[in-house]
Amino acid sequence: MHPHHILRVLFTADDIAGRVDALVGEIGRTCAAGSLVLVGILRGSFIFFADLVRGLFYHHLHPRIDFTLLQSYGSGTESSGTVEIERDISVDVRGTEVVLVDDILDTGRTLHFAVELMYAKGARSVKSCVLLDKPSRRVAPISADFVGFTVEDVFVVGYGLDYDSYYRELPYIAELTFTHPGAAGGQ
Ligand code: XMP
Repeated sequence: MHPHHILRVLFTADDIAGRVDALVGEIGRTCAAGSLVLVGILRGSFIFFADLVRGLFYHHLHPRIDFTLLQSYGSGTESSGTVEIERDISVDVRGTEVVLVDDILDTGRTLHFAVELMYAKGARSVKSCVLLDKPSRRVAPISADFVGFTVEDVFVVGYGLDYDSYYRELPYIAELTFTHPGAAGGQ
């Protein structure tokens, strides 16, 4: 038998679409249209990011878009503690308003690192938007400005989130269960 499988659906495609719409509204009300740069933290945010960006169009926000690939997860259930830039942004963010977009805020190490990085590059302000928040796991001193859903300390997949690069295509978010104690990680 597969060592991991879907235990239950936490958020349906409709649940997600409703929250993404609300988040787009919040971002639209909070962020100035002028110098907005949306930075997606790959890989897990790619579907969430695409839905957000299309929603912003209807709020007359036309941000510049870029991506960074940050690696924080080792092979175990804990993130490694150090964050590495596998792929940096290429847009010049000096003097801009950056909104970082990530799939899930877990220990917070990745987002904390990304916020510092954007300020170091000269961004005027840096906000963050995450689809999922696991506050019980927080290690780094950070909270997100825009949060889709708060989740318990369970391993989730779908809507861009993976286990071992599987499950990203699921239109819903589900809890994964492991029949063998072992690795749970992704990026
Ligand atoms: P930190 O701990 O730095 O980690 O906040 C954020 C990154 O860890 C991954 N992550 C998960 N991926 N299901 C996943 O598919 C999860 O439950 C989960 N928890 C953390 C994710 O890549 C996130 O960007």
